[in-house]
Amino acid sequence: MTIELLQTHKLLDSCEAAIAERFTVHKLHEAEDKEALIARVAPNVRAIAGGNVDAALMDKLPKLEIIANFGVGYDSIDAKAAKARNIRVTNTPDVLNDAMAEITIGLMVALARRLPQADRYVREGRWPSANFPLQSELTGKTVGILGLGRIGKEIAIRAQAMKMRVVYFGRNEQPSQPYIYYDNLVEMARDSDWLVVIAPGGKGTEKIVSREVLEALGARGYLVNVARGTLVDEAAMLEMLQNGGLAGAALDVFEKEPQMSDAFFALENVVLSPHQGSATHQTRQAMGALVVANLDAWANGDPLPSAVV
Ligand code: DGY
Repeated sequence: MTIELLQTHKLLDSCEAAIAERFTVHKLHEAEDKEALIARVAPNVRAIAGGNVDAALMDKLPKLEIIANFGVGYDSIDAKAAKARNIRVTNTPDVLNDAMAEITIGLMVALARRLPQADRYVREGRWPSANFPLQSELTGKTVGILGLGRIGKEIAIRAQAMKMRVVYFGRNEQPSQPYIYYDNLVEMARDSDWLVVIAPGGKGTEKIVSREVLEALGARGYLVNVARGTLVDEAAMLEMLQNGGLAGAALDVFEKEPQMSDAFFALENVVLSPHQGSATHQTRQAMGALVVANLDAWANGDPLPSAVV
C-alpha cells in the first residue's frame, strides 16, 4: 500500500510525475471542494508536497509527518506549529542561488537601462534617436543588500564584478569582508543607490523595508525585491514611485500575488516580473529533485537532505 500524500499547489511536471510514482497523490489545489477532499483523505495522509500549510490544516491531518516545500522560502508554512506537532519541514536551498542572483542582476540592468521601454519602442517601429530616454549605469554605484545569505552572497559577487560597491545588512549576519556591513537598515539605504531585498519572508521581516527605509533610499534610489512582497511597505513604495520619492523599482514579488495593485501598471519606472526568480530549466529540475529526495529519505527513515524543522 502506497503512502498517501497531499499536494497543495502545482509543482513542476517532472516533480509531480516522480511523486506520483511513489505516493498516492491527492491534489488539493485542483479540488472544487477543498474541505471535502481534506475530510476524505485526512485519516491517511502522511505527507504534503508544497506550501500554504497552516496549523489548522496540520490539525486536520492527524497522521501528517512531513511537509516538503518546493522552494527555499517556507514562509507559507507555519514551521513553529509543525515543530510543535513533530512534523518535519523541508525546503530547497542552494540549488537556486545562481538563478536567483542572475535574475536580480537582470532586473537591475533592465530597470537602469530601460529595457522594457526599449523593447516596446522597437516593436512600435521606432528607432532610438536623441529622444529615447537616457539611462543610468550600475558601474560605480552602491548596492545595499538586505540579507547576505546564500543568495545574497551570489548577488554580491556579481554586483562587484559589475564594478559596484557592495554594502549589506542582515539581522543574523556577521561582518564579513570584503563587503561593508551596516547594522542599521536606514543608514544602509541612505548610503545605497540600489537596495536589493533578499531576506526571508515571514513575521520577523514584515515591512522591514518601511517608509523610513524607502525615504532614506530616496529619489535617486532603486529598489529590487526578489524575496517576498511582505518585506516591503508596498503602499509607501507605490506612493513614492508615483511622486518621484524613489527613482524606480524592479519587482519579482508582491504583497498579494497574483492580485497585485493596478497602480503598478501605470508606472514607467518599474519592471514587473511574475515571481519567477528560480524559473530556469536546471534550477527548477534541481528543486524538484530535492523535494523528491526529501520525501524518499523520509519514507526510508533516512536523514532528510534539507530539513528546516
Ligand atoms: C523560493 O524558492 O522561495 C522562491 O521564491 C519560490 O517560491
